[in-house]
Amino acid sequence: GAPDTRTPTGAETGVPKIAKGQQGAYLTTANGARLRDTDHSLKAGPRGPVLLQDHHLREKIMHFDHERIPERVVHARGAGAHGVFVANGAAEKVTRAGFLKKGRETPVFVRFSTVLGSRGSADTVRDTRGFATKFYTDEGTFDLVGNNMPVFFIQDAIKFPDIIHAGKPHPDREIPQAQSAHDTFWDFVSLHTEAQHHTIWNMSDRGIPRSYRTMEGFGVHTFRMVDDAGATVLVKFHWKPKLGVHSLEWEEAQLINGIDPDFHRRDLYDAIEAGAYPEWELGIQVFPDTPEETFAGIDLLDPTKIVPEELAPVQPIGTLTLNRTPRNFFAETEQVAFHLGHLPPGIDVTNDPLLQGRLFSYLDTQLTRLGGPNFTQIPINRPHADANDMLRDGFHQHAVHAGVAPYRPNSLDGGNPFPAGDKEHAFVDVPVTVAEAPKVRAAPASFDDHYSQVRLFWASMSPVEKEHIVRAYTFELGKCYHQAIKERQLQCLANIDPVLCEQVATGLGLPAPQPTVPLAEVQPSPALSQVGREWPAD
Ligand code: HEM
Repeated sequence: GAPDTRTPTGAETGVPKIAKGQQGAYLTTANGARLRDTDHSLKAGPRGPVLLQDHHLREKIMHFDHERIPERVVHARGAGAHGVFVANGAAEKVTRAGFLKKGRETPVFVRFSTVLGSRGSADTVRDTRGFATKFYTDEGTFDLVGNNMPVFFIQDAIKFPDIIHAGKPHPDREIPQAQSAHDTFWDFVSLHTEAQHHTIWNMSDRGIPRSYRTMEGFGVHTFRMVDDAGATVLVKFHWKPKLGVHSLEWEEAQLINGIDPDFHRRDLYDAIEAGAYPEWELGIQVFPDTPEETFAGIDLLDPTKIVPEELAPVQPIGTLTLNRTPRNFFAETEQVAFHLGHLPPGIDVTNDPLLQGRLFSYLDTQLTRLGGPNFTQIPINRPHADANDMLRDGFHQHAVHAGVAPYRPNSLDGGNPFPAGDKEHAFVDVPVTVAEAPKVRAAPASFDDHYSQVRLFWASMSPVEKEHIVRAYTFELGKCYHQAIKERQLQCLANIDPVLCEQVATGLGLPAPQPTVPLAEVQPSPALSQVGREWPAD
């Protein structure tokens, strides 16, 4: 068919959507003039100096010199795939989002990533994994930007630069790449003890997934869903892999890092090319939207807490299938830009202070990473819904906007921007009540509980999983140069479980301290253990 020549704002340009280039029988300059030779620069005689007038030489080298863009400040290394999401309709009773209505099919792009390594780092390191999904819904793009762990290190985005600085390579030596073998990392998590929950997930088998295809994914934060009548619920998103949840053994991960540092990237690509399309079930835990924003005593605004599935079962709402590999890594996997503010009508944010900070961060970083404000025009980032914004000009502007009045309402270019039909599909911010409260730099008292759920996680592990956790703490803490940091982290382990602390302390050749917080009994949550985890039963 005829190429789509519309700009992201819907204007007709006559220029095909995908930039022409590398088409046709002849090699040309970027301007389209045919070339006879691309192997020799223009010289004054075969042995002579090169002439400044050689435009082909200058253009070829100039473009090469500028091929690199900055890597992501975090999650730099990743792999992506296209696919489709099919809704089963179960979410219809809690949200007006059209793409969640029964039978709806929505194209998606997913990018999996490690967090701390640079673009060229190895895949099978111990780290958190990103699991970011772009749903190109016909009511606007929805980005679910999650991780393979359901909790995060910190409770307030203002600490994000600090935790990432602590985990990235040392400023003086630029070593190491992995988050773990770090005095600064263990210094941070033993001083900011809210990080202990995420850290035990990293030290567990979850920190070294076998494949992107065998990872769970989590939206981490609590979101709000709203139905047609304006009724709201609070939800947490979960991805469950059809292949079950599987990890590597530490020794396997070490060997693979040397033999095939692209192991996860290759596995995803090869599986899809072979027709073994990976699938995930998307599910939600649903909670009443009460003024306290708690469930079973758990603060739903605290991103270091989960809600055990025994208390709030995960209800499946649709299936994701990844069925197409990217044609060009740079154009798709590298240039894709996710944002938590990309929400369709029916899904909204909550006051989780980590989520609120992320709403600022992604747009801001993408401005630098993608070279200006027009990155929604890059093909992978274009909404599949018609976009009709009032944004104009800027670096890398590809739209040729028509009209003279980029403001609404106006009396020159078509008047009312909100015709009656739009009301049905328009995004309306949920009018939640904002408490009248003093302006403070503070957190709720519930955010002070840093250990109860770490104990829950440890108690939920099978013996073999516990053994792996002990070995991981012992190995990683063993890399610290500073004994005081090891001792402080052992104190944190004592506050989690005496056996865990004792075993790691023995491995490190240090005494095991006594707990400084009361060690309350917890009921294990079977859903937290990976042993025997399979695709959810119908
Ligand atoms: C990138 C997840 C917290 C800042 C990413 C990516 C994921 C992710 C999956 C990779 C996106 C991609 O593939 O392109 C999360 C989760 C978080 C979290 C689940 C906590 C629940 C934060 C916070 C901040 C932040 C608190 C800052 C305040 C960033 C930045 C990027 C990023 C700057 C790079 C984005 C880009 O260059 O396109 N995050 N993140 N993240 N995240 Fe987060």
